Amino acid sequence: MNRKTWISRLVTATLIIAGGLSLSSCEKYTWAKQEVPQDLIVSFTETLLPFCKSCHGSWSTDRTYDKLFANVDTVTPASSRVISIHSSITAFGSEMLPIDTLLLPATDVIKLWASQGAEKN
Ligand code: HEC
Repeated sequence: MNRKTWISRLVTATLIIAGGLSLSSCEKYTWAKQEVPQDLIVSFTETLLPFCKSCHGSWSTDRTYDKLFANVDTVTPASSRVISIHSSITAFGSEMLPIDTLLLPATDVIKLWASQGAEKN
């Protein structure tokens, strides 16, 4: 075996090992759904209002609240109309909202707010 072949084999072996290592390191990163803490309070003013306004920019605070309040179900938050109205608007469904250090799906935030009594907080 000449020197050139030896070097190329060494390089190939190194690449295979490095590749294997980098692949196995992927196992550490899994995408788990973030748990919503039980005591997390959702604020209409801080969290939901700016979100609604990002699309319904012309609505006043009162109008936005009325529209939202009229379309959430505080008893069964998952069947809130505001979610079904927007189900075909992809940007709505995939939007994540920051609360404290968390980043939660907008629909979960709305459901949580509804379950907390849909207050103008
Ligand atoms: C990603 C953009 C987007 C976001 C965010 C969004 N909407 Fe909408 N919404 C729309 C579009 C588009 C329509 C359908 C067209 C229309 O009526 O303006 C709509 C329709 C509606 C309707 C039915 C029509 C009406 O005027 O009564 C309501 C109620 C509504 N949205 C409330 C809300 C509330 C409350 C929020 C905040 C939780 C919100 N939307 C956030 C895009 C958005």
